[in-house]
Amino acid sequence: MKVIVTGGAGFIGGNFIHYMLENYKDYEICCFDFLTYAGNVETLAPIKDNKNFSLVVGDIADRDAVYSLFEEQKPDVVVNFAAESHVDRSILDPGIFLRTNVIGTGVLLDACRKYGIDRFHQVSTDEVYGDLPIDRPDLFFTETTPLHASSPYSASKASADLLVQAYYRTYNLPVTLSRCSNNYGPYHFPEKMIPLMIQRAKNNQSLPVYGDGSNVRDWLYVKDHCEAIDLILHKGKVGEVYNVGGHNERSNIEVVKQILRHLGKDESLIEYVADRPGHDRRYAIDPTKITTELGWTPKTGFDEGIAQTINWYLDNEDWTDHILSGDYQRYYEENYKNRAQINK
Ligand code: NAD
Ligand code: TYD
Repeated sequence: MKVIVTGGAGFIGGNFIHYMLENYKDYEICCFDFLTYAGNVETLAPIKDNKNFSLVVGDIADRDAVYSLFEEQKPDVVVNFAAESHVDRSILDPGIFLRTNVIGTGVLLDACRKYGIDRFHQVSTDEVYGDLPIDRPDLFFTETTPLHASSPYSASKASADLLVQAYYRTYNLPVTLSRCSNNYGPYHFPEKMIPLMIQRAKNNQSLPVYGDGSNVRDWLYVKDHCEAIDLILHKGKVGEVYNVGGHNERSNIEVVKQILRHLGKDESLIEYVADRPGHDRRYAIDPTKITTELGWTPKTGFDEGIAQTINWYLDNEDWTDHILSGDYQRYYEENYKNRAQINK
């Protein structure tokens, strides 16, 4: 079996490649990644000498590059993780989100049609459903919840989902989609909340909490997401969407305080700052379909997963140190400059 994993030098794609090589010794995995600021070859360093692994650097929105890739690799399966993935960056500069997430997915789908594949899997997000009220803990996203995206990021992911479903309906392309809640774990780029807070707390820097910190996310340990995609690839029904999430809802401020406690740091590091425009209030997944149809359940609870994650960052300082260079500093400055501290 030959699998192309796009975006495999990023957080979830990288974890997925590690997971697949460990669990399927006879699968060949080719990572296709443009190595943007979010792609990091050091994430793939532990498997770089594995004979079943290869890396091709290229852009999913570049049709010639993608068609050459398919001609050379002749994949059976394509799993599309490649994306611009950070909401705050999409607010600062939406254009690249349309190019990569929408056009890029379209080019991959065309290549799948042209060269033929057994499965195209689109890695999507629960953010395509918009948000839920914080005071209605009885409400969850199901696969039939209407798409109602809030940010340029989630709108671009929703557009990609619609394209994938259209290629199934119109051309019978064998597709599946997963819509997962927020992931955390090793190799997570420190612009996202959990690794950003770990990194800054470790260095006794202020922790910028947007708004009043009451927004809720449904956190899933990244390996549980990899297992869900594995199951969907092997047992999932073509044309179907599967929601992936593990009932691990936490408010942002709870998560930040838990990180501080684990690191033995003081809550005075917390700084409430101006809110994210259009900030989604709550995400919460109903995973009944993937649980009953495919037998998936998450294995790692939040307390265990966050402890493992913090310890990973403490043990792998080189990985983060190489990222926190000029570009990262420029982004941090731009995103946080107009967010003066709000005293609570
Ligand atoms: P990430 O930003 O860490 O990694 C994205 C990867 O895609 C990087 O390696 C980057 O170099 C690559 N890439 C970007 N543009 C590319 C292009 N034009 N061509 C080829 N490669 C390109 O993202 P992530 O957090 O690992 O997310 C992976 C996927 O999972 C995304 O599609 C995202 O929407 C989805 N998702 C993420 C989460 C989450 O919590 N992080 C939750 C649900 C779904
Ligand atoms: P993030 O990790 O960017 O994921 P997403 O927006 O895709 O859910 O943010 C998670 C939550 O943390 C979200 O409610 C925004 C909040 N947040 C902060 O409070 N401060 C920060 O510096 C960041 C990056 C996020």
